Amino acid sequence: MPVAFIDSGIGGIPYVLTARDYLPHEQFVYVADTALFPYGDRTAESIVQSVISISSTLLDTFAPRVIVIACNTASVFALPVLRDRFDVPFVGTVPAVKPAAELSKSGNIAVLATSRTVGAAYLDQLVETYARECIIERIAGSELVSFVEQGGWRASVEEIRSAIMPTVEMLQTSRIDTLVLACTHFIFLKEQFESLLGPDVTVVDSRDGVARRIRTLVSDSEESAAGQTGARADMLLCTSPDTRYEALSKHFGFDYSGILENEVPS
Ligand code: DGL
Repeated sequence: MPVAFIDSGIGGIPYVLTARDYLPHEQFVYVADTALFPYGDRTAESIVQSVISISSTLLDTFAPRVIVIACNTASVFALPVLRDRFDVPFVGTVPAVKPAAELSKSGNIAVLATSRTVGAAYLDQLVETYARECIIERIAGSELVSFVEQGGWRASVEEIRSAIMPTVEMLQTSRIDTLVLACTHFIFLKEQFESLLGPDVTVVDSRDGVARRIRTLVSDSEESAAGQTGARADMLLCTSPDTRYEALSKHFGFDYSGILENEVPS
C-alpha cells in the first residue's frame, strides 16, 4: 500500500523527494493532473471535482495508506471535502503562515502563491489564527508556475534568476524578513530566491512538516515496510498524454506509468 501524491503538475515532486528521506522503505505513487494544469487558473469547483475524482481512482487502483495533496491551491479548497468524503487520511500542503509568523522578527511576511490561493478564504483564516500581528503581503506568481512546469525545474541558475527577478525586486521594496513559498512549484526556485534575497530574508516551505505528518500516519506499518527487501519502484502517472513526463519521471527516480483516467471537469 503506497503513499499517494497529487498535484497539478511537477510541483509535488520535491515533497516526494523529502518524503523518501523520511520514509526510505515506502512506495510512492505520484499523479500530475496535467489535464487541468494550471490549477491557479481554474475555478475552485473544477479543482475540487478533479481532486475528488483522482482520489477515488487512486483508492480503487492502489489502495494508498495516505493521500498527500501536494498542492496549496488544491489543499485550500478541497481538503475539508476530501476528509469528509473518504476514510483514508489526507495530508495537505497549506501556506506555511504559522511557521513564518513564529520565525519573523519584524512581522513583515510575504506569501507567494497562485492567484487562487492568494484570494482563498482559507488563507484569510490562517492569517487570522496564526499571524494576526503580522503584515502579510500576498503575491500571485502564476507566471512562475508556468516557468517551472515548462522546464524551469531544470533551468540554469541564470534562467531561474531572470525569471524570478521581477518578484525579487518587488519583495526587496517591501522590507520583508520572511517569504512563504505557498505554491509547491516554487520549491524549484527556492535556492535562487534565498540567494537573491540574501541572509536577512528567511524563505519558508512546508516539505519537512508534510513529510513528518506522513511518517506519523504510516508509522504503524513502518516496521513491516522496513522489513521488506527490494521496495517497489515509485510510480508517476499523468491525467493527459504528456511525453515530457517520461523523461522527468526517470530524472526523479519514478517509473512512468502512463495515464490515470480522469474526467476533466468543465
Ligand atoms: N502547485 C500548485 C500549488 O501548490 C498549483 C500550481 C498550478 O497548477 O497553478 O498551488
